[in-house]
Amino acid sequence: MLIRHLHKTCCVVLVALALGLAPAAAPAQPWQIPKPSPGLTPNPAKGMAMYAQTCAACHGRDMRGTDQGPPFLHRVYEPSHHSDAAFQLAVRNGVRAHHWNFGDMAPLPELNPDDVAHIAAYIRMEQRRSGFR
Ligand code: HEC
Repeated sequence: MLIRHLHKTCCVVLVALALGLAPAAAPAQPWQIPKPSPGLTPNPAKGMAMYAQTCAACHGRDMRGTDQGPPFLHRVYEPSHHSDAAFQLAVRNGVRAHHWNFGDMAPLPELNPDDVAHIAAYIRMEQRRSGFR
């Protein structure tokens, strides 16, 4: 299952490599994709509030980006290129700059995997509305 995830999420691999995590030598933790609670129904309305509080400053209230971070309403972040696992990993581990020139994204330890699932649901909803699938 891990392998399937890695195939689907090229950027997850890129990020992990950028962080210097050699698969053989690294402890299991960074490769474990944080999982929301079993049975959780991601709620875009909850996600919207948390997005506004913790992501909007860089990714933009309207998800169109700021001078601190990239837009989510962009082909790069549509679900076929960045799966929800990429969101879990970005929040848990941070992101080394690799697609853009905004610099790195720091981890956001105040959010748990359920929070991130709600936020991802909100971002997916807005992406669908704007025609990204
Ligand atoms: C301090 C600014 C900042 C904040 C706050 C921030 N981000 Fe980011 N984020 C960035 C930058 C910059 C990048 C782009 C890195 C690159 O060049 O690929 C990024 C990239 C990402 C990526 C792409 C990861 C990948 O695999 O390429 C995801 C997903 C993401 N952010 C999610 C979030 C979420 C969800 C939140 C709120 C919980 C958030 N970010 C808050 C700056 C931020």
